[in-house]
Amino acid sequence: MTLEQLTKNIQIISIICNQWGDTGKGKFSDYFAANFADVNARSGGGNNAGHTTEINGKKRIFHLLPAGIIHDNKGKVNILGNGMVLDLKVLNQELNELDKENLFYNNLMISQDANVIMPYHILRDQKKNTSQKKGGIGSTGRGIGPCYADKIARRGIFVRDLFNEDTLSKKIEKALEFYPELKSTLSKKIKKYLGFYSEPSIDKDQIIEELTPYATRIKPFVRDTISEMHGFVKNGKKILLEGAQGLLLSIEFGTYPYVTSSDCSINGVAAGVGLPAKAIDLPLGIVKFPYMTRVGAGPFPTEFAGQESEKYCAKGLKHDIKFELKIHEIPFEEKNGNIKYDHHHEKIIELMNSDDSFLQGVGIRLSGEEYGATTGRPRRTGWTDLVALKYAIGINGPNIILTKPDVLQGAREIKLGIGYDKTPNFTRDSDLLKTCTPSYKSFQGSNEDLFQIDNYRKLPPGLKQRINFVEESTGGIVRIVSTGADRNQTIIK
Ligand code: GDP
Ligand code: IMO
Ligand code: MG
Repeated sequence: MTLEQLTKNIQIISIICNQWGDTGKGKFSDYFAANFADVNARSGGGNNAGHTTEINGKKRIFHLLPAGIIHDNKGKVNILGNGMVLDLKVLNQELNELDKENLFYNNLMISQDANVIMPYHILRDQKKNTSQKKGGIGSTGRGIGPCYADKIARRGIFVRDLFNEDTLSKKIEKALEFYPELKSTLSKKIKKYLGFYSEPSIDKDQIIEELTPYATRIKPFVRDTISEMHGFVKNGKKILLEGAQGLLLSIEFGTYPYVTSSDCSINGVAAGVGLPAKAIDLPLGIVKFPYMTRVGAGPFPTEFAGQESEKYCAKGLKHDIKFELKIHEIPFEEKNGNIKYDHHHEKIIELMNSDDSFLQGVGIRLSGEEYGATTGRPRRTGWTDLVALKYAIGINGPNIILTKPDVLQGAREIKLGIGYDKTPNFTRDSDLLKTCTPSYKSFQGSNEDLFQIDNYRKLPPGLKQRINFVEESTGGIVRIVSTGADRNQTIIK
C-alpha cells in the first residue's frame, strides 16, 4: 500500500503508543507532519515526554513542541493543546533552539486552557516521586504529577491566568497553602538535583517575577485552541494528533500507581485538543517490536531478568549509556555531548545472545540505544508482550505501527510474550501483575539488515511470519513497519 492509499479519505490521524512510551511517536509525528498534516497538535503530558526525530541523519528531541513545528514555514499550524501541562522555562528553551536553527514558529498556538507547571510542582515531584529508593515511582521529576493533581483539585494555574496579575497572584497564594512541606529548607541533595532548574522558588512574588518574561514571550501565541481546532475540522484541514507517553502509563488504563498523571489513550489524545475520540479517523498505536521498554518503577512481566534489571535501572544515571559502554568495553566517541558507537558491534551481539537474561537485556538496550530521551536513564527491556498489546488494542483500536525490528539484527532467538500464569488477560492490578510469569512463543532470529528495504514484500520471511503472528493473536492490523530511526526508513504495509 502507498501512503496516499492509507490516508485516502482520512482527515484526522493520531499517533499514540500502545506500550510504556518511547516507541517512536516523535518519528511518526514528524513523518505525518511532513507527508500529511496541515495542523499538528500535542494534546497531553508535558516535558516528561522526549520525542526524537531523525531527518537525513539530523536528530532533534522535542519535549513540548509538536515534532511538526519544523514545517511552520510552510504555513502548517502547531498547537500545544488544552490537555497539556507547560513548563514555561522549558518551552522558552525549545523556542530558543528553533531560533538557533533559524526555524520559524509564527503559526504556533498555545492553548489558554493548558495548565502551567509551577516551581512548587517540580519541587514536590522531586521530593516525593523521583527516587525509587525512597518509595517514589521514578517520575521524570518535571512536576507533571503535582501539576495535574492541582488541576483536578481545582487550584490549577491556567495559561490564561498568566495575563491577569490579580488572578495569578491570588491563585498562587491559594495553591501554596497546599505545599507546607516546601517551607522547610531544601536539602542540599535536592538543590544539587535541581541543577537544571537552578533553584525554583516557593515565594509568590519571586515566582511571578520569574514567570513574567516567559509569559510575555508566549503571549502572542496564546489562543482558544479548542475553538481553533473546531474551525480546522470544519474547514477540512488535515490534522495530526501527537500523543505522549503510552497506554500502559495512562492514569486511566495503565499500571496504577506506576503511571503518569494524564490519559495517554486515544480518548485523552482527543480530549486534550477539544475533540471526541470518535473524530479520529485513523488512530495509529505504536508497538516496539519484538522487544519493549519501560522507564521508572512498575510491573513489566516480560522484562529480561525481572527485579534484578528493575533495581539496576532504578539507579538511573549511575547506569547510563557511557557506563554501560565502558563496562562492556564497547568503543565509542563523544562529540558535543553526543555518544556515537556501532550498534551492531560484535560485543553487543554477544550480549544480546547471552544465556544470562540480565546481559541479554543490556545487549538489547545498547543495540536499541534505549536511554531516556528526557532523563538519560537506562530503559528497562523485555520481549514484546502480546497480552498487554491485545488490551491496548481494545482501547486504542487495531491499527498498529511496528518500530525497531532492526534492533534485533543478529539475535539468534526472538520471543513474544503470549500469556500469563495468573490471569488470562492483562490486568491493571499492579500487585497481581508483578507476580505474573509470562509464557512465550519462540522464533528463530535472523541476521538480515533491514536498512535498505523499502517494500513490505522484501522484508525477511521470518519477520513477516512474526508480524502475521502478532496480527492473528491480538486482532491488530499492522499498517506500517519502521526499519530505522530516520523518517525515510518507513514501510507502509
Ligand atoms: P517517543 O517518545 O515515542 O517519541 O520515542 P523516543 O524518541 O523516546 O524513543 C524512540 C527512539 O527510537 C528514538 O531514538 C528514535 O530515533 C528511535 N527509533 C524510532 N523508530 C526506530 C526504528 O524503527 N529503528 C530504530 N533503530 N530506531 C528507531
Ligand atoms: P514519551 O512521550 C517513557 C514515566 C516515568 C515514570 C512515570 C511517571 O517520551 O514516551 P511522570 O514524570 O510522568 O510523572 O512519571 O511515567 N514516563 C515516561 N516513560 N516515556 C515517556 O514519555 C514518559 N513520560 C513519563 O518514567 O515511570
Ligand atoms: Mg520518549
